[in-house]
Amino acid sequence: MTPIHSADRAIRALARAGMVLLLGAGLGLAGASSSQAGGRPTITKEAFGSVSGRAVDRYTLTNGRLRVRILTYGGILQTVEVPDRHGRTANVTLGFATLDGYVTSKNPAYFGALIGRYGNRIANGRFSLDGRTYQLPINDPPNSLHGGNAGFDKRVWNAAPVTGGDSVGLRLTYVSRDGEEGYPGTLRTTVTYTITRHQGIRIDYQATTDRATVVNLTNHAYWNLGGEGTGTIDDHRLLLHASRYTPVDATLIPTGAIDPVAGTPMDFTRPTAVGARNRSAFPQIRYGRGYDHNWVLDRRDTTYRRLESAARLSDPASGRTLSVSTTEPGIQFYGGNFLDGTLYGTGGRSYRQGDGLALETQHFPDSPNHANFPSTVLRPGQVYRSTTVYQFGTTR
Ligand code: BGC
Repeated sequence: MTPIHSADRAIRALARAGMVLLLGAGLGLAGASSSQAGGRPTITKEAFGSVSGRAVDRYTLTNGRLRVRILTYGGILQTVEVPDRHGRTANVTLGFATLDGYVTSKNPAYFGALIGRYGNRIANGRFSLDGRTYQLPINDPPNSLHGGNAGFDKRVWNAAPVTGGDSVGLRLTYVSRDGEEGYPGTLRTTVTYTITRHQGIRIDYQATTDRATVVNLTNHAYWNLGGEGTGTIDDHRLLLHASRYTPVDATLIPTGAIDPVAGTPMDFTRPTAVGARNRSAFPQIRYGRGYDHNWVLDRRDTTYRRLESAARLSDPASGRTLSVSTTEPGIQFYGGNFLDGTLYGTGGRSYRQGDGLALETQHFPDSPNHANFPSTVLRPGQVYRSTTVYQFGTTR
């Protein structure tokens, strides 16, 4: 077995020489084609441009039936290629073809990005902790959204391949300085993407701080199981293991209530077409121009350590399925309501309203301002941990 450190050194040397790299999982150097034929997991690296003078890399992780591309810019999951029921492969996540696509547009929809330091909204960008009040940038007036103007989605992360056994991964690290985007404490974050043997993408998040702060990390991938750029996800069937949700006000800030979904268009406790009720006049749907809410997962483990089923999405046309499990208490189902046709995606086609949906596992939005929500406070000496698995499959 090739020790990872020496393999890593070899990779860096080759990278300096400007070559594309291939690393077999615990098997020495291996070609991508052999990985596809034999299902042997591999990770490859290539230069992908630069941002403000900092080089950005793109890693490709494959295990035969699943191939994903991850950028060190924003830790962005750029493409996810999986087969349909006939074995035909398509890229099922929304994104851009080039780094410039993300940087120039500022990726306003957060395609595929890691979100931090705080996923979703904080009311008026303000919260108090241990008697001090902190003001964050108001980038979604009147609130702060997804970590502010330059959240974790706009940072270049350090990356290192993780190989061994029958999986392959990419470990990303980022140090967010005390006061960055208004948040207290230097936060050291590690996010590891792992391609599991059975067509799964596992994301492990970990963070520590040197001062009390708030943390809520997630990934903002949008899914269209028919393939990105192929139209809306109205016909996709969604199941959410959630009998309650957190209703919001007109600015999409939770009111603090935790309401039952029963008898409302928020009820996805049985698989339901996404488009069946997303034009409903139900006030909550009006506020979000469709679905843009946090569902409270029906968990057995309320210490938030164990992976439990959260959601299942299926596309009757292609037969592709996506199951999401998480350690988190909540999931934001966002129906891509603000996509307006101005962004052109990976395959060159424009993204319009409802052309993809996000399932963001998370603690609840605006938790720092709601004592009745599970806490998002992280203190020195504690370790923030969160895991989510996106498992792909097919049905007949
Ligand atoms: C939010 C939406 C927002 C979107 C940005 C989602 O997580 O809930 O309101 O528009 O992210 O793309």
